[in-house]
Amino acid sequence: MIGNILLYGVLALSNLLPVQAIPREYTPTTTFSAAETVTPTVVPQRNVTSHGPYTGPPATTAGALSTSVIASVIQARPPVPGSFNYTADGKLHGPQPAPFTPNGGIGTNGSAPVYRVQSDFDYQSLALALYQEWIELDLFHWGLKNFTTKQFEANGINAKDRFLIEYMADQEIGHATLLTNMLGPQAPKQCTYNYPMSNVREFIDFNQKLTRWGEAGVYGFLPHLNSGPAAQLLLQSITIEARQQLIFRQFGGQFPMPEWHTVGIPQSWAWTLLAPYISSCPINQTRLVWQNFPALYILNQPNPARINASAAFNETTGGWANTLSTKNISSSQLCFNATNKTLDCSPAITQNRSIPLSYPGRQVFLHWDNPGRLVGPNNSYVTSTTVRRPRFAAWVSQLNVTYSPLLNVSRRDNTAFTFQPNVSTWDHDPAINGTMFLALTDTNLHVTPYNLSLINPHVAALAVYQAG
Ligand SMILES: *[C@@H]1O[C@H](CO)[C@@H](O)[C@H](O)[C@H]1NC(C)=O
Ligand SMILES: *[C@@H]1O[C@H](CO)[C@@H](O)[C@H](O)[C@H]1NC(C)=O
Ligand SMILES: *[C@@H]1O[C@H](CO)[C@@H](O)[C@H](O)[C@H]1NC(C)=O
Ligand SMILES: *[C@@H]1O[C@H](CO)[C@@H](O)[C@H](O)[C@H]1NC(C)=O
Ligand SMILES: *[C@@H]1O[C@H](CO)[C@@H](O)[C@H](O)[C@H]1NC(C)=O
Ligand SMILES: *[C@@H]1O[C@H](CO)[C@@H](O)[C@H](O)[C@H]1NC(C)=O
Ligand SMILES: *[C@@H]1O[C@H](CO)[C@@H](O)[C@H](O)[C@H]1NC(C)=O
Ligand SMILES: *[C@@H]1O[C@H](CO)[C@@H](O)[C@H](O)[C@H]1NC(C)=O
Ligand SMILES: *[C@@H]1O[C@H](CO)[C@@H](O)[C@H](O)[C@H]1NC(C)=O
Ligand SMILES: *[C@@H]1O[C@H](CO)[C@@H](O)[C@H](O)[C@H]1NC(C)=O
Ligand SMILES: *[C@@H]1O[C@H](CO)[C@@H](O)[C@H](O)[C@H]1NC(C)=O
Ligand SMILES: *[C@@H]1O[C@H](CO)[C@@H](O)[C@H](O)[C@H]1NC(C)=O
Repeated sequence: MIGNILLYGVLALSNLLPVQAIPREYTPTTTFSAAETVTPTVVPQRNVTSHGPYTGPPATTAGALSTSVIASVIQARPPVPGSFNYTADGKLHGPQPAPFTPNGGIGTNGSAPVYRVQSDFDYQSLALALYQEWIELDLFHWGLKNFTTKQFEANGINAKDRFLIEYMADQEIGHATLLTNMLGPQAPKQCTYNYPMSNVREFIDFNQKLTRWGEAGVYGFLPHLNSGPAAQLLLQSITIEARQQLIFRQFGGQFPMPEWHTVGIPQSWAWTLLAPYISSCPINQTRLVWQNFPALYILNQPNPARINASAAFNETTGGWANTLSTKNISSSQLCFNATNKTLDCSPAITQNRSIPLSYPGRQVFLHWDNPGRLVGPNNSYVTSTTVRRPRFAAWVSQLNVTYSPLLNVSRRDNTAFTFQPNVSTWDHDPAINGTMFLALTDTNLHVTPYNLSLINPHVAALAVYQAG
């Protein structure tokens, strides 16, 4: 019966053929497909077995990659002439290159796309993204191996959830292959890593924060790449990373996306946050040009594993990422098993917190490192800043950079506090929410998403802030 219905469907579509001439093979049967002949190979990778801090000899090469430097900063300038020339009135203003095709666009004239880097900017940006993909590949595997089934189950991460984490690791193989192919033979290789987490809840939070700076780090440079074709392929990978970030928030019982826009950050910010977790890389590993900023410690970083996240003090696994530690949370304060269901935070598609993680007007206590600390692969990079005295906290979230003054600044202890500003990106969309970034700066420079990196010469220290 079903076969007949389908057969009539085929007849209708093939109405140019006389009915009696329909060949036998038009009769719907099963799907025919040939065995797959070509499977593009993936980049060589291994399951890294050693983890922990770098213990080898001091690196012979230290500091970021550099060549001759033309100026100490990039000058801010007015918009490019002609930026306002195009009349945005909904009418067509130029001849159409082809039917149904408007005039303009970049890379639209039919030239064959070439999927490779086209400048130092492209190379360094994609190499940074590759370092990020490599750590994710190892990190997801490490967590699955490091914690027992019982420990995962106690945190509500069941077998299907663990399969999803394994699948997310596999996705990284594709991303690493893609970036390696666009970079060529000197592309950075897989390294060894050092993770500060000691339980499943900390692992989930670390992943949630790490994928956020991975995602935001790419959004920051994507529209600046010389190679549009490379940007296209990276875009189609980073949208997967964005989904991973959301899923790890769901595993941690957080609202999946408490913002209307995802923030973008400069490459040096992504590298600053990533490098401390890389222990060592293969000899002659390609180095990066990006800056490592000193660590900012958010002393009362909101802790999403707590019923009252905001009550946390000194509960992170370290500076920079400021990921959560559960060490000092009593079982009655853990939200996972909270009996009052308005307070619980077990894994879910979505969770509402009746006690918000953070809120406008919150007093935030800060401490920061001096520059000069060795970080990154083989301890071969050095933190640096040109700022002598930080004066502002820059809250970088959604489309906004909002400054709040630092108060009670102690240059002896490197401590200060500030208050979380009350700002909205749009009506009904509070700007400061979700997993975002906090930098200390010496000035309140006006920057927007496309030129955020102009802030770098003013950054004294950097952190991830857990606003919601
Ligand atoms: C790494 O380990 C996972 C299981 O943990 C396995 O599925 C995968 O094949 C391994 N990869 C390599 C390159 O050995
Ligand atoms: C923009 O318009 C001005 C005035 O019409 C013209 O002089 C200029 O050449 C235009 N610039 C561009 C980039 O089209
Ligand atoms: C097509 O556009 C590219 C820039 O995207 C340009 O370099 C190239 O010259 C153009 N080709 C032709 C035939 O106009
Ligand atoms: C988990 O990782 C930590 C840190 O790398 C390590 O000390 C510990 O031995 C690992 N445990 C297991 C069961 O692999
Ligand atoms: C939650 O409660 C269950 C049952 O008592 C227990 O097995 C599990 O360890 C608890 N999980 C956490 C994270 O406290
Ligand atoms: C942040 O988002 C969460 C989830 O939507 C919401 O409950 C909370 O009120 C938001 N925080 C602020 C400060 O708007
Ligand atoms: C590293 O680079 C140096 C100088 O280019 C070269 O002599 C050496 O053979 C390289 N080592 C490896 C393991 O590739
Ligand atoms: C959460 O903790 C903060 C800081 O200790 C405190 O000010 C606030 O009142 C607490 N909120 C609730 C609902 O207990
Ligand atoms: C935070 O806790 C660590 C030990 O866990 C301690 O060494 C450090 O002094 C504490 N910092 C503050 C500001 O309380
Ligand atoms: C841990 O919590 C206790 C009690 O709330 C507090 O006295 C202590 O200072 C906390 N320790 C750290 C390192 O924050
Ligand atoms: C559950 O917690 C909410 C928010 O703190 C509170 O308003 C409510 O009274 C609590 N319910 C019970 C049954 O304790
Ligand atoms: C936040 O960003 C939006 C969009 O660019 C802008 O309209 C708004 O003025 C910004 N708000 C602040 C406080 O900077």
